Amino acid sequence: MTYDRIVVGTDGSETASKAVEHAARLAASVGASLIAVTAYDPHPQGLDRDRAEAPEDVQWRITASGLADDHAQGAVQLARRAGVRQATALSEAGTAAEALLEVAERRRADLIVVGSKGMNSPGRFLLGSVPNAVSHHAPCDVMIVRTS
Ligand SMILES: Nc1ncnc2c1ncn2[C@@H]1O[C@H](COP(=O)(O)OP(=O)(O)OP(=O)(O)O)[C@@H](O)[C@H]1O
Ligand SMILES: [Mg+2]
Repeated sequence: MTYDRIVVGTDGSETASKAVEHAARLAASVGASLIAVTAYDPHPQGLDRDRAEAPEDVQWRITASGLADDHAQGAVQLARRAGVRQATALSEAGTAAEALLEVAERRRADLIVVGSKGMNSPGRFLLGSVPNAVSHHAPCDVMIVRTS
């Protein structure tokens, strides 16, 4: 048994980056391709304020999809540094679990990798909502990297 196509989810958080690192090392060692997915809310609260506070020359970049692209691209860079030959970034509007499940199905992935936590939940929770939902509905194997 080996893996050919691995999907990893990241929200750009430090903990998610640990999951990306783990997925990348695994992908590199078995010769799998890696798809880094960042889901985003197309109408997030507070984004207008963040944009207004940013330097003018980068304001155009501060959109929900632009930031999601940056997170997914960051994961791809990390994967390339880890020796993954084929790494792709995808940003998708919608919830993280839906995006990961949808991409895994569409791209016929054989493994989804997520961190146990992202950037929202306080330390007392072991699992975030994304690994919880993904583990219940995945069309393939799921790896939950313990990130804290
Ligand atoms: N927007 C996202 N797009 C893709 N993957 C994500 C996204 N957010 C989280 N993930 C994945 O899910 C893992 C766990 O994050 P999750 O959001 O479930 O935890 P949390 O933020 O601690 O809790 P919650 O969001 O339920 O308050 C992350 O390490 C990452 O792998
Ligand atoms: Mg979260």
